[in-house]
Amino acid sequence: MSSAAVMNSDLARFSKEIDALNVRPLWERVMRLKPGTAALPAIWRWEAVRPALMRACELITAKQAERRVLMLENPALRGTTFITTTLYAGLQAILPNEIAPTHRHTPNALRFVMEGEGAYTAVEGERVAMRPGDFVVTPGWAWHDHSNLGTRPVVWLDGLDLAIANLMGVHFRENYPQETQPLSRRDGDSTARYAANLLPVDLRLQGQASPILRYPYERTRSALEQLAKDGDPHPAHGWKLRYANPATGGHAFPTMAVFMQWLPKGFSGRGHRSTDGAVYCVVECKGRVDIGATHFEIAPHDIFVVPSWEACRFAAGTDCVIFSYSDRAAQEALGFWREEGAAD
Ligand SMILES: [Fe+2]
Repeated sequence: MSSAAVMNSDLARFSKEIDALNVRPLWERVMRLKPGTAALPAIWRWEAVRPALMRACELITAKQAERRVLMLENPALRGTTFITTTLYAGLQAILPNEIAPTHRHTPNALRFVMEGEGAYTAVEGERVAMRPGDFVVTPGWAWHDHSNLGTRPVVWLDGLDLAIANLMGVHFRENYPQETQPLSRRDGDSTARYAANLLPVDLRLQGQASPILRYPYERTRSALEQLAKDGDPHPAHGWKLRYANPATGGHAFPTMAVFMQWLPKGFSGRGHRSTDGAVYCVVECKGRVDIGATHFEIAPHDIFVVPSWEACRFAAGTDCVIFSYSDRAAQEALGFWREEGAAD
């Protein structure tokens, strides 16, 4: 036997001997030493998922379900409940007069309203109206309940940093003793305090999420439309704005960055990629997105996922407005975030 063969058999025996110690030789392990995750590009078409959500409305009440939500699971992450390796996405429906009871949890949550009028989310004693296109903030550990005072179903996209919380073992949750929490602040209180380019003189915020509970669509859309009237769009993103925490200038959540972008009719974007995995929800658009080697035609209310470090390119057949959220805030805080192809 050659000396190399002897060494190999010694190493194999050694590897077996130490297995009982829960120890493995690093040199035997093939590791993923490259950017990106296991998540795949995927799309959930509104025309397919909306009927499923309406069927769920017939089969279970919001009270029975606690939250009537269809989770959007990444095809490569089935069974995990997650849409990327760090983020959760779910479609929630609430019927007139239903109540989704009060609870709180450490993960941060965003709502992006897709359909229907008359719903509200109560957050820490304040009712927040929910209208299509609005982005609503539920900070981690804030009491929240939802209801629908309108006459038709209301549907929104829930986005949470759930996988990050689970990874770190910090997922605490509890139910409030009553279905609906008592209201202690007038409607519009958080808007008056934090969303008028003014801040309370003695501002002392608790937590790191934005104190603005509702970013109304009409203001966001009007800002983008105004920008799009002048100058050239960014070659990759079109006109893209991020929702800001007015107290810090940072992202709306400590973990999740939240965006809205406008692509003008005829826009043919440059391919770019970044390390944050992102969930997109089409607001207004007929267009197309290429994600790596995958191509999707996109229409209003479609939801698609661009996994970490996958090249993404937009083409707009009409003026497009697209909402998105990603784990960029967490990546920036940790010094991990990178992009390629987007810079001028
Ligand atoms: Fe919740």
